[in-house]
Amino acid sequence: MSNGIFNVTASKILANRLAVMALAASLILGAGPGLAQEKVTETADAASSDAFADADTGSLRPVADFDSIADETERSIAIFEETGKVLQDPRCVNCHPRGDSPLQGDDMALHDPPVVRGAANFGAPGMTCNTCHGPENVDVVAQTDDIRSIPGNPNWHLAPVEMAWEGKSLGEICAQIKDENRNGGKTLAELVEHMAKDDLVGWGWKPGKGRKPAPGTQEQFGQLYEAWVATGAHCPAT
Ligand code: HEC
Ligand code: HEC
Repeated sequence: MSNGIFNVTASKILANRLAVMALAASLILGAGPGLAQEKVTETADAASSDAFADADTGSLRPVADFDSIADETERSIAIFEETGKVLQDPRCVNCHPRGDSPLQGDDMALHDPPVVRGAANFGAPGMTCNTCHGPENVDVVAQTDDIRSIPGNPNWHLAPVEMAWEGKSLGEICAQIKDENRNGGKTLAELVEHMAKDDLVGWGWKPGKGRKPAPGTQEQFGQLYEAWVATGAHCPAT
């Protein structure tokens, strides 16, 4: 009995692995990600074909919603907590893991196939992130149950371990992203700019077919950070 179940699971995993490998092989054997991509894609911007296009993916409260909090420190903390809906969303955490491997999906499972961050957070030699991840999201034509698109961005790689958010509280993440020793040397102004404008951060709101976008919009997210800094950039205690 349990053997039967195991076999079903194992063969499903194997099928997925094979699909990924075939995909990787076609990218390698084809004339690189660029060309292979034209053959297989429609990019994720064709959101109408996205299973989640009409789903309620959650929203962000506008800055004005927090005006009623008289105490500036409390207001700052409340605004930061609102941005936490995005920071702790799987679209961000999957690339900010504390371990050696990226995570995937809404359950933040280990990346399948197994890959490691490597010395430069860009994968191991021969299995770098851009072996499979091209400059744009790529729809997978031969869909399997679990893989509907491969995320893409020209800068696709893993956040360094000192920027890990996985398993951390909002207070811990807040202290960390303010700390220039752990945030890539960013001032608060640069941090706001990164949140509001960075293209890799922006991927979180256009994550490709089969993936739920982060709540709200990147613009609203950036506005919340501006307001957070303007109110003294205070962090939640925990
Ligand atoms: C494809 C992987 C990837 C995804 C997805 C991703 N990040 Fe990052 N993130 C990185 C990398 C790599 C760095 C470090 C290099 C840099 O600064 O661009 C980074 C750095 C950051 C930084 C600056 C350092 C720090 O931790 O303070 C912030 C802020 C950040 N990301 C926010 C986000 C947010 C918000 C999301 C989700 C909406 C997100 N990231 C999604 C890879 C990713
Ligand atoms: C052998 C091919 C391959 C390599 C190499 C690879 N990936 Fe992936 N990656 C995939 C595929 C395929 C998916 C889609 C899986 C799915 O959604 O079921 C994926 C999904 C992801 C996701 C999940 C996004 C989400 O929110 O669900 C992240 C994050 C990710 N990869 C990061 C990386 C990073 C960082 C590297 C390099 C260290 C890397 N990948 C190397 C094939 C690969």
